[in-house]
Amino acid sequence: MNRRTLLAVGAAGMVSTVAACTSSSPSSPAASSSLTFDKNAFTEKTTTVTTVAGDKEVVYRLYSKVAYVAKPVDVACQSLSVAVPVKIDGKEVDATNAPILFEIPVGGYMPAETPEDPFVQAGGMPGGGMPGGGMPGGAGMPSGAPDGGGPPGGNTGNGGALPTGMGSTGQNTHEAIAAGWVVVTVGARGRTNKAADGTFYGKAPAVIVDLKAAVRYIRSNKGVFPGDTDKIISDGTSAGGAVSTLLGASGDSDLYSKYLTEAGAADASDAIFGVAAYCPITDLENADTAYEFLYGSLPANGQSVDATVSAELSGAFAAYQDGLAVKGLDGKTLTAGGYRNYLLTQYLQPAATTYLAGLSSAERSEYLAANGFIKWSGGKATFTFADFLTHLGSRKKTVPAFDAFDLSAGENNLFGTATVDNRHFTGFSAAKASADLDADIPDLLKLMNPMHFLLERNEARAKNWFIRLGTSDTDTSLTVSSNVAAAASTLGDTVDSIMYWDAGHGANNDPEAFVAWGNKITGHA
Ligand code: DHB
Repeated sequence: MNRRTLLAVGAAGMVSTVAACTSSSPSSPAASSSLTFDKNAFTEKTTTVTTVAGDKEVVYRLYSKVAYVAKPVDVACQSLSVAVPVKIDGKEVDATNAPILFEIPVGGYMPAETPEDPFVQAGGMPGGGMPGGGMPGGAGMPSGAPDGGGPPGGNTGNGGALPTGMGSTGQNTHEAIAAGWVVVTVGARGRTNKAADGTFYGKAPAVIVDLKAAVRYIRSNKGVFPGDTDKIISDGTSAGGAVSTLLGASGDSDLYSKYLTEAGAADASDAIFGVAAYCPITDLENADTAYEFLYGSLPANGQSVDATVSAELSGAFAAYQDGLAVKGLDGKTLTAGGYRNYLLTQYLQPAATTYLAGLSSAERSEYLAANGFIKWSGGKATFTFADFLTHLGSRKKTVPAFDAFDLSAGENNLFGTATVDNRHFTGFSAAKASADLDADIPDLLKLMNPMHFLLERNEARAKNWFIRLGTSDTDTSLTVSSNVAAAASTLGDTVDSIMYWDAGHGANNDPEAFVAWGNKITGHA
């Protein structure tokens, strides 16, 4: 299948969310909420969902915007909506023991407002983004242009209203409910949330604290909450993919205890069963070096980047990578020296092979004629890493890609405080500003980095991982996703990790594979 996914990408180049949550003024005062799920508080709805296997009519019970903490500071964000299928194409289903899709509509580390009904977009349109994708694949694609790339925008920039567009959100919720899963869509605070007194209340680690609180809420209502509360599978794209990964990696870590208590979270386990992550923008404190290691030679916005800064950052990657001491999916230690070849043989060539194999022979000939660097022989695509970079042609972000010298990146904004909007979070960029990192930053970085928990072999982590990334996605280095996959695989977890050839940021080209994977790991029929 060479279906492609067209995603709306915001002006800041980030995958945007179901609905941008209020960036100022909490929508509710800190009223106290019950942590008991009321299973009778639903309305029955009918919708048509679009799946890869065709449209399905689903009758479902909808629980709307249920607060998941006892002391919400912003219930528009700190709440979840639940859809429980009762009839699919006229056939009754019982979701009592079904997997729970824990859908995270976070994009850009921005606030994510909980949708009233995940299957109806604000404005009354059926929800679900663009299942099936609108953009034809194949030879018509300009070679090397990321298909979800949005405007060249330098660094991620701050704030800004984000248009609708859902990453994995729409497609996977549709596939999941059509497969009889319970779909829970979970809002969370984000980096631009601002209270009436001018203080920020959604800076790191608020997003992960909220997601953990939501898991605890579900778990503490075991037996009443629909679905199997021990089979929670998180899912998100980009920043949402990052926090999906973090949620799975950090299960039951006590590093978050004080924040969870402060938020009024239920006292229960926050460990989850599986993680789906699409282009996770994570491992943020190492993302600048990883980015230059891979894309240092490429221009951004038509201009070459500062070669000195790029080389300084790139030079620091080897020590980081080799220090991880993780094994790749091929079972061999994944070093910086071997990384390009690893990407090539483990991900890029197989992605191109799958893509080309899915074309008609006329389309394939056309694509190969336009992309002479690819050798197609015996049903396999081969090429060099240097040619792959030439094919990419450019990178999305300037240098440094994440901890911007001028504090203009979304990640600077994420690591702000209640009273400081943007901060440095790497020693490298702080030093360029002749400053020291703030003393709280090292601990904060741990709270936001799934690699930390994977490397310390957190026993309560999710043990099942589904990771997807477009080969043209230069929102972060390709090594970021593949390191998550490698770290989980090194621990013996099940890992299903592939890339999509020529696909850009936020692509989800096989939502049916996600649900098949979830059914397999949970034993759901
Ligand atoms: C997202 C994209 C980015 O480039 C980034 O740095 C952070 C988040 C996003 O689409 O969510």
